[in-house]
Amino acid sequence: MTELKVLLTRDQIQRRVAELGAEITRDFAGQSIILVGVLKGSAVFLADLARQIKLDATFDFIGISSYGNRPHPTQELKNGWDSTGEVKLTKDVDQTMKDKNVIVVEDILDTGLTLTVLKKLLLAHQPKTLKIAALLDKPSRRKLPLQGDYVGFTIPDEFVVGYGLDYAERYRNLSDICVIPRNSS
Ligand code: IMP
Ligand code: MG
Repeated sequence: MTELKVLLTRDQIQRRVAELGAEITRDFAGQSIILVGVLKGSAVFLADLARQIKLDATFDFIGISSYGNRPHPTQELKNGWDSTGEVKLTKDVDQTMKDKNVIVVEDILDTGLTLTVLKKLLLAHQPKTLKIAALLDKPSRRKLPLQGDYVGFTIPDEFVVGYGLDYAERYRNLSDICVIPRNSS
């Protein structure tokens, strides 16, 4: 059985998410925003973050898959993986983003490929502003130059699960964020 090590506790996460929500509330005071969650990993973060934002807000969701050539999960853990393969849009947003304040909500910024593609896609809508909120950031993994505007935690190059993040679709429902050791089977 895979052993998990807690990296960020639910209390640490809740405190930081509250700070991010307060920051967004200040930055967009008096305005409306659209939170665009990137399926599926951001679902838990979006649900908590949204309730810490005291603004007129709507939700949308976008689906993108960068796992075209992702190795089998066991290989991925041993060798790491690079999502530099093909990126596929699996669900587009439902509403136009034109002249809106758009905040893309993502679980983790890794190589930067996913958000680079998403940014290009959403900028084509001509939003008023486009910001990125990412709960986690692994800057050491970056392949494309990209920064989050609202970042929860900067973490080392470890494979993490929980609070929406998965390993082969599992563990999304954990309340804490945990590391799966790379040498686990
Ligand atoms: P990027 O395109 O390489 O930035 O990849 C971002 C996506 O890869 C995230 O939305 C996650 O779905 C996935 N990902 C990257 N690192 C991890 C991790 O440590 N645990 C779980 N998913 C991850
Ligand atoms: Mg994801």
